[in-house]
Amino acid sequence: MTDFEWNPDYAIGHFQIDDEHRKLFRLARKMMNVSCVRASEKEIKAAVKALSDYTKIHFRNEERLMESIGYPDLEKHRAAHAYIIEQISNFLAAEPSPVRQAKRLKEIISTWVDGHTTGEDLKIARFIASRRGTNN
Ligand SMILES: [Fe+2]
Repeated sequence: MTDFEWNPDYAIGHFQIDDEHRKLFRLARKMMNVSCVRASEKEIKAAVKALSDYTKIHFRNEERLMESIGYPDLEKHRAAHAYIIEQISNFLAAEPSPVRQAKRLKEIISTWVDGHTTGEDLKIARFIASRRGTNN
């Protein structure tokens, strides 16, 4: 996954999480666009910041959701989020070039989308569905 184009395969079936994932995809596309068209460093920096900030907000919202439903794997999921946030914070602090920041952030978010959203996040949606006794 490299282009962050949304398709139904990414939907996990929970409105809030899917909505936030779509917003993350939009921010990732925006960041990729500005870093490809050689926009000003200021613009690239702003797009990197918007994506990394929203990633944190999304993770926090997802953790609140898991808390509210008594999700059994909350701590494991929280630790996975903390690891991604730490990776992002570390390289942003160490890498002064906005273009390289965007490239690395794209890699991290891309890996996260492939491995985490359709795996771990899907388990949250399934847990909610099982409590409701429905498929959604
Ligand atoms: Fe997650």
